[in-house]
Amino acid sequence: MANEPLFLNTDEAATMLNVHPNTILRWIKSGKLPSSKIGSQYRIPRESIENRVSRTDSGTRIIAVANQKGGVAKTTTVVNLAAGLGGAGKKVLVVDLDPQGGCAVSLGIATDALNKTVYSVLVNDDVSFKDIIIHTPQNFDLAPSNIDLAGAEVELKQLLAAEQILKRKLRDVVDNYDFVLLDCPPSLGMLTINAFTAAGELLIPMSMELLALRGLDMLAKTVSKIRAITNPDLTYLGVLATKYDKRTLNSQEIFEALQQASKNAGIKMFDTYVTSSVRFAESPNQQAPLILIDPEHEGSKAYARIVEEIIHG
Ligand SMILES: Nc1ncnc2c1ncn2[C@@H]1O[C@H](COP(=O)(O)OP(=O)(O)OP(=O)(O)O)[C@@H](O)[C@H]1O
Ligand SMILES: [Mg+2]
Repeated sequence: MANEPLFLNTDEAATMLNVHPNTILRWIKSGKLPSSKIGSQYRIPRESIENRVSRTDSGTRIIAVANQKGGVAKTTTVVNLAAGLGGAGKKVLVVDLDPQGGCAVSLGIATDALNKTVYSVLVNDDVSFKDIIIHTPQNFDLAPSNIDLAGAEVELKQLLAAEQILKRKLRDVVDNYDFVLLDCPPSLGMLTINAFTAAGELLIPMSMELLALRGLDMLAKTVSKIRAITNPDLTYLGVLATKYDKRTLNSQEIFEALQQASKNAGIKMFDTYVTSSVRFAESPNQQAPLILIDPEHEGSKAYARIVEEIIHG
């Protein structure tokens, strides 16, 4: 919007993020949020409010990759970024929160044969992430899922503080990693709510279709509620355009509309987009993410740039 102020005071920042003003003061005092002081008033740069890096106390960045629309390249983004971050020397854990088990499938792991999965961890007090994590040859660890997880949407609701379970369970392993990537299912149900409660940051892949774009508002409303209720620290890593077809005007128009919509919502959008390519669909047959199979491919290079931006800001 044209006349957005460049700086906000603590009350304005709190309203924008739907958190208590004391939360804003806590972030300022702990150095999580940059600010300057004029008299007794803090001035906070508007652009740093939605685009903070949010870490756990041990410095781990937990990133939920989510969009309630199906097929926008959430899983593709998770495995390529995980392999890229791992290749850059970071310790990475991928947690598959989708009953389709897409992460394992795309790495060639047969999910039916797994007897303990993310589902077992979420619904059993005595099963830990330590019991299910697989070390993959693709530079990252995986907590796999299979169709068992479909039952979790209903079962979790019957448990106390249901939305906190993933966050609590991750404590066993989170300090071992620099990054934890949460691959969300295409819904805003209990599993995604668990991911938003456990995460510090949210990455939103958006395919270049008009319908996909409509979901951004609803996603932002969910984030706003999560901040007020379970996780004031949740921030946006950004929106990532995927399946961008350079041959069509359509992709360019949707990209620009998405830039505007993201700006209006105060959410950063990556300038880098991931082009549409059948190579992404082919790579699961080769049992590794495209970024490893063909690093010179345009799509791999796009993910490599995102990796750089995530690491260096
Ligand atoms: N840049 C791309 N260009 C073309 N096809 C792609 C691209 N990225 C992913 N795909 C393909 O699109 C399909 C959906 O991708 P993916 O499974 O990553 O989406 P998703 O958002 O995780 O889906 P779901 O919501 O079902 O979990 C897959 O067949 C994948 O190979
Ligand atoms: Mg998926």
